Formats: sequence, C-alpha cells, structure tokens
Amino acid sequence: MNDKQLVALQAAKYVKNGMLVGLGTGSTANYFIEELARCQAEEGLKITTVASSTISAQKAQSLHLPIIALEHISSIDLYVDGADEITPEMTLLKGRGSDLVKEKLLAKAATQFIAVADESKLVSNIGQNFSIPIEVIPFAWQLTKRSLEVIGGQGDLRPNAAKDGFWVTSHGSYVLDMKFDKNLNAKTLNDLINNTPGVVEHGIFYGLTNAVFIAANGVVSERWA
Ligand code: 5RP
Repeated sequence: MNDKQLVALQAAKYVKNGMLVGLGTGSTANYFIEELARCQAEEGLKITTVASSTISAQKAQSLHLPIIALEHISSIDLYVDGADEITPEMTLLKGRGSDLVKEKLLAKAATQFIAVADESKLVSNIGQNFSIPIEVIPFAWQLTKRSLEVIGGQGDLRPNAAKDGFWVTSHGSYVLDMKFDKNLNAKTLNDLINNTPGVVEHGIFYGLTNAVFIAANGVVSERWA
C-alpha cells in the first residue's frame, strides 16, 4: 500500500453511519472514495456523499455511493481532500486542477475538514513549490492581473492543454498562476487576494483545516488544530 492510500484509509476511519461526507479531488481523494465504497459494500456503512468535482462525482457514482448535488446542502459533517502544499500552520495550497471553488465551499461547510497527503506536500511557506492559482472572471482578467501585480504578484493566465487558448475551470473562470513575495505570510496574502475585485476564488486554504494527516514511509501521523 502506498502512502497516499494509507493516509486516505486513516481518514476513512472518521466516517460514521449517517454522515454527509464531502469528497475531494485528486489521487489521494480517490483512495478515500474507494475506501468508502469498500466500507459500504463490506461493512454496511450508510452515508451520503457530495463531490467537489465532476470527476469525483463520477467515481463515487461508479462505485455506487449515494451522492447529492452541492446545490442541495448547507453544511456537511466531514470533508476529506488532498493538497498541493501544506504549511506547519496547516494552511493549504490547492487547485492545481479546476475545482477549487467547490473544494473551498465544502471545506468551509464541513464540521471537520481533514487534509490528507504524503510528505512530499509539506512546505515551510505557501507558494514554495507552486504558483498560487487564482480563478478570475474571464472578462476582468487584465484588470485583476494588474491589481494583483500592484500587490507584488507575478505570473500569467494558465494556457489550455493544447496551448492554443486559456484554461477554463469547471466554474467557467480563467486561472492566473501567480508568484508573490516570499516574505508575505499566508494570512496577509489570503486577505490581499480576497480583497481583489475580479477574483472568483484562489488556492490558499487559510484557517479551514481541522486536521492534517501525513503519511511518510508507511507511517501516518495525525495533527489536529
Ligand atoms: C485539486 C487538489 C488536489 O487535492 C491536489 O492537487 C492533490 O492531488 P493529489 O492527491 O493527486 O496529489 O487540490 O484541486
């Protein structure tokens, strides 16, 4: 069993009968979804799920997990998702894909949000390994980019896979992948980007995580806020 699978299985131990469970997106979240399906089939676990992306919804459906649409919920019991970076303060960077709007909504709506990852995701500062993905309203991208440059951002629109246009998220936004001054802490950066008109959502998950589970060389460690 690899570390991503191991940490996903540990998070699944916190899923109890009757819960409404948010499903994250990515390879680690996929292991969590598979484990829920196994528990349902083999141990009679009774849960309802809500997905953070079309791909996770499809996976849950293919494994016969009961699933409801985000439109029909106002809170959930537990959300489990991976991350691209995790700081010692449990701030996350997410959104390498196209689904950070739903991911952040579920993280905020959850009574408990557990981030799961292997140790490769641990960083000292947010933005250490990746640019910050910032979803912007398409018609406002130039104005928004300028505002972000004024606060020290450097970067550009994410190209599409064919490199002949721009990437469009599942929410219909463009993505600015931006680097900022390393001395800006996560809270300041989070506040500054939140305050920028034209920003739909961004990949810094500040103050949302209740626990971080990390697997390293076959051993899982839990850290609770
Ligand atoms: C998607 C995410 C993923 O959770 C993140 O990219 C981690 O993916 P993986 O579990 O495949 O390493 O934030 O928006």
